[in-house]
Amino acid sequence: MANENLKKAKKAKNDEFYTQWVDIEKEIMAYIDYNPDVFRDKTILLPCDDPEWSNFTKFFAQNFEAFGLKKLISTSYAYESKNVNMPYKVSLFEEKAPHFDPNINKIRGKIFTLDHDSNQNGVIDIDDLEWQYLEGDGDFRSDEVKQLRDEADIIITNPPFSLFREFVNWIYEVEKTFLIIGNINCITYKEIFNLIKNDFAWLGTGMGRAISGFIVPENYELYGTEAKIDSCGNRIVATNSCLWLTNLDHGRRHKPLKLMTMAENIKHSKHKEVKGQKYKKYDNYDAIDVPYTDSIPRDHEGVMGVPITFLDKYNPKQFEILYLGNLNGFPPNKQYINPISHIKGKMKSNNMINAVLTIRGKDKKGNYYTADNIEYPVYAPYARILIKKRGNL
Ligand SMILES: C[S@@+](CC[C@H](N)C(=O)[O-])C[C@H]1O[C@@H](n2cnc3c(N)ncnc32)[C@H](O)[C@@H]1O
Repeated sequence: MANENLKKAKKAKNDEFYTQWVDIEKEIMAYIDYNPDVFRDKTILLPCDDPEWSNFTKFFAQNFEAFGLKKLISTSYAYESKNVNMPYKVSLFEEKAPHFDPNINKIRGKIFTLDHDSNQNGVIDIDDLEWQYLEGDGDFRSDEVKQLRDEADIIITNPPFSLFREFVNWIYEVEKTFLIIGNINCITYKEIFNLIKNDFAWLGTGMGRAISGFIVPENYELYGTEAKIDSCGNRIVATNSCLWLTNLDHGRRHKPLKLMTMAENIKHSKHKEVKGQKYKKYDNYDAIDVPYTDSIPRDHEGVMGVPITFLDKYNPKQFEILYLGNLNGFPPNKQYINPISHIKGKMKSNNMINAVLTIRGKDKKGNYYTADNIEYPVYAPYARILIKKRGNL
């Protein structure tokens, strides 16, 4: 249900899911642990971040000295451009500023900068943030925010879900270092997959349940029991469907995944699809299907199809990524002629099976496909990535 809500958020352009401090801290500290100077003398841009809401701004402002930052820039998107149905509250932050203008406040974005001890109290922190109105609404695609992008060394944020691909392209136009949050499914976008395959980007250290949830606005409609209220009264939705995407190095991606042999997996696996079973071969590609990352065998020399969540454990020295398990990715060795889906007992002409890896047999729910050129049923497993081990694991 929570994943459904993220889908709805994407569709409705309801992009107001805010990241929790605890998740930002956990992720950022993984990079600091790997390289304590990772942010030293760097200009960080947070391009979708109003400090009134964004814990990214608060977190980096509070750690400005500890991380040795050169400059922090945070830009916010104008209320009227957000196209959301939620009341606008003027923060104290804004109201107490001499240049606050109620006439332009809702239609222009803001830029917040931090690079010196503006209140001269001896420390550089959140109280030293200075702000101005931008010329436009703060859209990351605008020329003025692009200029800030070009000035920055590192771009960090949780961007709007509905503009995720565009946001990644915007970063790659100028090949910046970045750390952003996205939906797990972004791995299956061709552009993002190719970045990961070619080692230009990789997953951060937190994925799925490792990101504890997002703060949603007061008027955000909650469904069932998925939301909890935290000690500050924030409404938190746990989604289990997000990841960090980055090109900043961290320690986990250098750790090899511990593997057992095929026989050991079959004997000891906790998964009933693996224990006591044989690894299945695909019907339309020369590779075995591995339904769980922890069941990847050490002694298989050929290609393996693994769940997309494998990328959370991916070490580029241990494995080579070959293709996505769909037609934009792998080259199938067979085309099904006149395929028919048999889903919930209903037969329908359906070419979907020609777009994905297939396995002989029926899926767990008894659904399957037939075609003129096969005498057996086939089904498609969940989204897969085709990989191969490199050298000795
Ligand atoms: C998923 S929220 C995350 C906010 C904040 N970065 C955080 O992590 O808490 C995305 C934010 O981007 C803003 N936004 C939407 N479209 C935008 C655009 N074109 N340019 C800049 N910001 C945008 C939304 O209003 C929203 O506040």
